[in-house]
Amino acid sequence: MSSDRREVQQETTTTVDGNGSNSHQMASSAIVRATGATTCRRLRINPNNELRPDNYEDLHLDFPNPVYKNLEKYLPPDMLVSNREEKVRFMTDIMHSHLPNGERSRAQRHNDYRNKIVSNYQPLHRELYNLVPILCFVPSFLNAVNDNTEDSFRSIISEASPGVFVFDMLLPSFCEMMLEEIDNFEKWVAETKFKIMRPNTMNKYGAVLDDFGLDTMLDKLMETFIRPISKVFFNDVGGASLDSHHGFVVEYSKDRDVDLGFHVDDSEVTLNVCLGNQFVGGELFFRGTRCEKHVNTATKSDEIFDYCHVPGQAVLHRGRHRHGARATTSGHRVNMLLWCRSSAFRELKKLQKDFSSWCGECSSEKKEEKARTFDAIRKKYVKAVRPPQA
Ligand SMILES: [Fe+2]
Ligand SMILES: [Zn+2]
Repeated sequence: MSSDRREVQQETTTTVDGNGSNSHQMASSAIVRATGATTCRRLRINPNNELRPDNYEDLHLDFPNPVYKNLEKYLPPDMLVSNREEKVRFMTDIMHSHLPNGERSRAQRHNDYRNKIVSNYQPLHRELYNLVPILCFVPSFLNAVNDNTEDSFRSIISEASPGVFVFDMLLPSFCEMMLEEIDNFEKWVAETKFKIMRPNTMNKYGAVLDDFGLDTMLDKLMETFIRPISKVFFNDVGGASLDSHHGFVVEYSKDRDVDLGFHVDDSEVTLNVCLGNQFVGGELFFRGTRCEKHVNTATKSDEIFDYCHVPGQAVLHRGRHRHGARATTSGHRVNMLLWCRSSAFRELKKLQKDFSSWCGECSSEKKEEKARTFDAIRKKYVKAVRPPQA
């Protein structure tokens, strides 16, 4: 038995949740329920599919921009002639009214928390807050996304191990600006003694980028750049319908988080990109993709893969791909993560039983079952055609 096998059997895989991220999940599922809402002005039962939705990303939104864009086609006709602010108010009220009481007050508290940060924090590099592709991405990545074909993606992306895609993504100048902005957050947090929420249940350092006003920029990153790639490589987990995200940075060094235990992410697709700087160690270890039922099953030898971070380089994988990070033994490593989620995939998953073709264990079980059925048929056939013994 290999040490990696032991690692999986002895450790229980954790599902990492993002602080403050459930409001997005709730927002997405609220669409489904909101179609039958009883308000003084009702939503349409049948959507107006001819409608070209407004863009709301420059407004202050309680829920992700794609949720508003999708909900707009259900607005009553008299509401469609209203201005964007009124439409946002109407849709926000409906979505809040469909959150359970506890969730509603939690969402409200989280909104107040975000507003407090955004109205007091002075960004260092304002240009980061609107995604300007030529300031962020290396030309090869930009060209591939512009072409938007499987061939163009395959020309820049290598599948380092099944389901783990690696590619050059961010310009060094962009990484540097992000690192300076993160330093600036931290200085502000220390000076003001503001108690910030950490990115998830496992990282004690780092910050949620969405809470610092980078949510619009990250929405654009997901919609325009990550979703087209995920549509090609992760269609089986809702890659084509990613509609909300949780974006954050994590920091590793001797006096920050050192390593990260074995876990799965609360995402359909995870983008993990190293921003820098100088460090030793910190490799990501991958151990196969699993559904909820099989999350603690043993690793097969062809599922073992270790990845060394390179600043500017991105790794894209399914959230259910089990992984962890080895110790960063010296220096300081900062990574940016974008957990991309699909509300459509999560709704479908609730309705369909046999849903996990992407799970290494489910597909092995299916193969074994097929082989058994084939064997039984073969035996029956051989018996039937065998000539009677003299
Ligand atoms: Fe993770
Ligand atoms: Zn499974």
